[in-house]
Amino acid sequence: MSRTVYLNGEWLDEADAKISIFDRGYTFADAIYEVTAIVGGKLIDYHGHAARLQRSLGELGIECPLNADELLAVHREIVARNNVVEGMIYLQISRGVDDRNFLISKDAKPTFSMFTQTKDVIENPYAKSGISVVSMPDWRWERRDIKTVQLLYPTMAKSQAAAKGADDAWLIEDGFVTEASSATAHIVKQDGTLVTRDLSHVILPGITRASTLDLARAAGIKVEERPFTLGEAKEAAEAFNTSATNFVLPVVRIDGQQIGDGTPGPITKKLRDIYVESRLATAL
Ligand code: PDD
Repeated sequence: MSRTVYLNGEWLDEADAKISIFDRGYTFADAIYEVTAIVGGKLIDYHGHAARLQRSLGELGIECPLNADELLAVHREIVARNNVVEGMIYLQISRGVDDRNFLISKDAKPTFSMFTQTKDVIENPYAKSGISVVSMPDWRWERRDIKTVQLLYPTMAKSQAAAKGADDAWLIEDGFVTEASSATAHIVKQDGTLVTRDLSHVILPGITRASTLDLARAAGIKVEERPFTLGEAKEAAEAFNTSATNFVLPVVRIDGQQIGDGTPGPITKKLRDIYVESRLATAL
């Protein structure tokens, strides 16, 4: 079924939405994006995603073409126009169309596009089975805190993981886990402490990460925000990823080594349950 998408102020059939070959998002990956989950036709963690969008734009000096009210309105309208019950909204803002020039000009007008994709977010079979990951070097640029569309390396890492029979890659830098190819990586130590990388330029400030850590602390789980090694991860009691469309996703194998008893651990399951419950209660 053909979707209705949003492009620069217009609602269009997906086949009619055209972007110039001169768009800097296309020639230089000069663009940022956000992915927001939809459950029950409502937006999950919307305010976090909207705030990070502004931050990414600010870091690159791109102006948001919509104000805060308009931004929420187009999110709501795209869900309604496509009758999406469960899935996600992908939003991208590029610097806009310009002659190919490494020097960034101030004149380009940002290109704003949005589309929806349906997906079983709650009844994700991997939430029950858990996923396997393999470690790979983190060869991305050093400003991973900006949610840019330069995703070639993460797509290569995920594809290489699949070729090795795994579901995802955990990326490693100087012996420490940075994050998964498109999710935040976490472990739970044998004493029940949740360990997750502290925020810096080397990881994306995950919106699901922030909510999950708040919920964990409120549930009395001890949280340590610090780098952890691949070795520490392999010795952990539990491991999991967080991201907008997978929520809290158990990791049960790292480089072929079973984590815990090889099934989703109790703290991971509890965090997924309370994440889902609390996000449904606050969905917009
Ligand atoms: N990816 N780290 C990276 C590198 C990511 O690409 C993502 C999200 C996250 C988790 O962030 P959040 O919880 O805000 O979704 C961490 C999105 C979902 C994607 O590219 O599809």
